[in-house]
Amino acid sequence: MKLRDDEKAMLDGAQGPAVSKAMDLLVRYGEALGAECLIDTNNVAGTIGATTPFLRQYGDRNGGMDAVFSEFNLDSAEVVPIPRVKVFSSHLQQGIDPKHAARQGVSEDVVRIYERGQTYSSGLGVQPLNTCTPYQVGNVPVKGEHCAWMESSAVIYINSVLGARTNAEGRESTGAAMLTGKIPYWGLHIDDNRRGTHLIQLDIDVSSTADWGLLGYWMGEQVQDRIPVIEGLRHQPNLARLKHFGAAAASSGGVEMYHLVGVTPEARTREEAFGGREIESVMRFGEAERRWAYEQVNITARDAQVDFVLLGCPHYSLEQIWEVCQLLEGQRLSANTELWIFTAASIKQLADQAGYTRIIETAGGHLMTDTCSAIGRVIPKGTQVAAVDSAKQAHYLPAIMGIQTWFGTTADCVQAAVDGRWTGALK
Ligand code: F3S
Repeated sequence: MKLRDDEKAMLDGAQGPAVSKAMDLLVRYGEALGAECLIDTNNVAGTIGATTPFLRQYGDRNGGMDAVFSEFNLDSAEVVPIPRVKVFSSHLQQGIDPKHAARQGVSEDVVRIYERGQTYSSGLGVQPLNTCTPYQVGNVPVKGEHCAWMESSAVIYINSVLGARTNAEGRESTGAAMLTGKIPYWGLHIDDNRRGTHLIQLDIDVSSTADWGLLGYWMGEQVQDRIPVIEGLRHQPNLARLKHFGAAAASSGGVEMYHLVGVTPEARTREEAFGGREIESVMRFGEAERRWAYEQVNITARDAQVDFVLLGCPHYSLEQIWEVCQLLEGQRLSANTELWIFTAASIKQLADQAGYTRIIETAGGHLMTDTCSAIGRVIPKGTQVAAVDSAKQAHYLPAIMGIQTWFGTTADCVQAAVDGRWTGALK
């Protein structure tokens, strides 16, 4: 890999041992990928830390959080002092919501470990956004901006909807990018690799958030990690619909980028989306494909009694919380059903101010932050059957938590929380 002078100096230790190890990691990683060089980045979304058993091991006498960063972000058994981050860096979702720890079944000592990690990463200069949707709360990269982001639903969103450039990075590469402002130049950083490969023509109207989730789920299964180009839209999708669409496609397949002709910034026309590349395959999405996706995301669901309704995967926007409040206001949840809604902490502050948190809590639900059930592995005790409005969560939750999961519209889910029973169906 060709390194510039500033990169060589970092590798040689001019900025201390942690930056040198970070640069060494990026060079090894880039060479394994066949990258010819590094690219500057001023926007990193990653995660610092490790799972709780490891975090417990690293008390202050064992190097503390510097040891955690060294081992888990820099792949270094040697503990090195970690300097402040060099570029704008955001922390992604965490494993718990400290304010709802007891309800999530999280013990006090785990909350203290979480707080120690939070203080540490904020001290390094990492913004504590603690969400899978940094683009909803102040980290909004612009078209063409080279980023180093983790979290599949966020990666596909910023590549496709915003036209920013990132590959799906990991804890190690994002940690190293925070300290160096560099990331290997390969994959979706390069123009040619962002062109469409498959054409998907819509035969039916796709308008609701649930329908966008179903389209994304079907599409991911079809194209896996390629770049689909979708045409034939009859309705302009909003942020929530594109968020659910991308999250679903990144779950059933490994899609990191798509083009919506006439909507996304690198696809003003079909020709621009493909950029001269030959179309590998043409597919159509109609009623049969929509039904197939619906059956797939409901494949684990059998029992109508619902113990747990989870909303907010990916983390809900303020608009989505408002929509739920309109469905929920004046109602009371079933005594046997919990409703947890996940969002970013800064959105919850707005929801508090707007009175939405009060509406949710008055009904018997809870607005939680920083984590979600799949990532935190937290569900109400005794849950056998859940209901969600996210194809991504329907894909992961049954496998991770061993429970049945219904998928439907947000209205279906709110109704299930009120009735304690699933009555949703594909309409
Ligand atoms: Fe976010 Fe959890 Fe879904 S981190 S994308 S809410 S699985």
